[in-house]
Amino acid sequence: MPQFQPVPSSFGALKDQVVVLTGGANGIGLEIVRKLYQAGAHVVFGDIDEVACQAAVDGLKSEIPSSSGLFFLRTDVRRYEDNLALFKCAYEKYGRVDHALSIAGVTEQAGKNWFDPKLDLSSVTAAPSTDLVDINLTGVLYFARIAAVYLRQGNDGRAQDKSICLLGSVASFKEQGGLFVYQPAKHGVLGLVRSTRKFLDRAHGIRINTVCPSATRTRMATAAVADVWAAQGVRLNDPRAVADYVLTLTSVPRDPHVGNVTGLAVFVEADKGWEIEKDLDRCDASWLGEEMSRNAAKIEAALASGTAWSDPQ
Ligand SMILES: NC(=O)c1ccc[n+]([C@@H]2O[C@H](COP(=O)([O-])OP(=O)(O)OC[C@H]3O[C@@H](n4cnc5c(N)ncnc54)[C@H](O)[C@@H]3O)[C@@H](O)[C@H]2O)c1
Repeated sequence: MPQFQPVPSSFGALKDQVVVLTGGANGIGLEIVRKLYQAGAHVVFGDIDEVACQAAVDGLKSEIPSSSGLFFLRTDVRRYEDNLALFKCAYEKYGRVDHALSIAGVTEQAGKNWFDPKLDLSSVTAAPSTDLVDINLTGVLYFARIAAVYLRQGNDGRAQDKSICLLGSVASFKEQGGLFVYQPAKHGVLGLVRSTRKFLDRAHGIRINTVCPSATRTRMATAAVADVWAAQGVRLNDPRAVADYVLTLTSVPRDPHVGNVTGLAVFVEADKGWEIEKDLDRCDASWLGEEMSRNAAKIEAALASGTAWSDPQ
């Protein structure tokens, strides 16, 4: 599993690029907006927190001298039409969208435990909120679907680099006890990268990657969570470091070690990054056994970008 280094010297490649993102008002998303704006990208971001959006735009415009655009739209990623409006806004302003970053997310909320031990035959009859799936997975699926259409406009010759980056989590691939709904949703984010990477690349020349951070110093990592990490001697990520990995995957289309920068998942812990997808198949034989691993490889190659599932017969 190769260490994946951020490449801040590549961020300049994003100058004049049009970037759409969600979750840009706070935390990791705000650091991504700051770095994009600093690099001279035109940024159109959506977030449900309108007050924080306005504060972010006012703060960044006074802090960073730049002639590039910085706009926000109040967006609830659970709503398909809000995701659509965000891309439409960028497209109408600039005539194209180059990169799309899905960052918005929420974690488990106190008092909303799906598996509350106090549930009984009476209280279990009330259906629980599906917000964590709607925001962390359905919203990401909406975003990626719309992104695929906007990114390919005017790029039939594939002369321009186009990419999608999704914010996953360590919970996308490692057991995280107690993240009862967040964890399955974040598994879905990595699943979306796996299911689309060949198709988006072959059909449209669009790269798709995910960054999967461990606990990161934003309001999402509560004091209790930070204490767990501290007690184990593992540092929290700095949100600026996580932003660097997102900008690296966005601004570097090819890498001498991994080739085409698509289909990757970068795990970030204590600000250090590890690419965990590219070589994963090589471990198949040791956990699936030789025969199953050979069969899995044959089926994967035969499915290719996967049109057998959805093409009319
Ligand atoms: N902080 C961590 O420990 C950590 C670890 C792994 C992954 N992540 C992921 O990183 C991403 C950013 O989280 P963060 O740590 O910066 O948290 P944060 O709470 O600081 O930022 C999340 C942003 O998403 C926005 N948002 C929430 N619901 C929304 C909705 N319905 N529509 C639009 N916007 C909405 C919030 O307003 C906020 O601006 C999330 O996807 C999160 O799951 C965070």
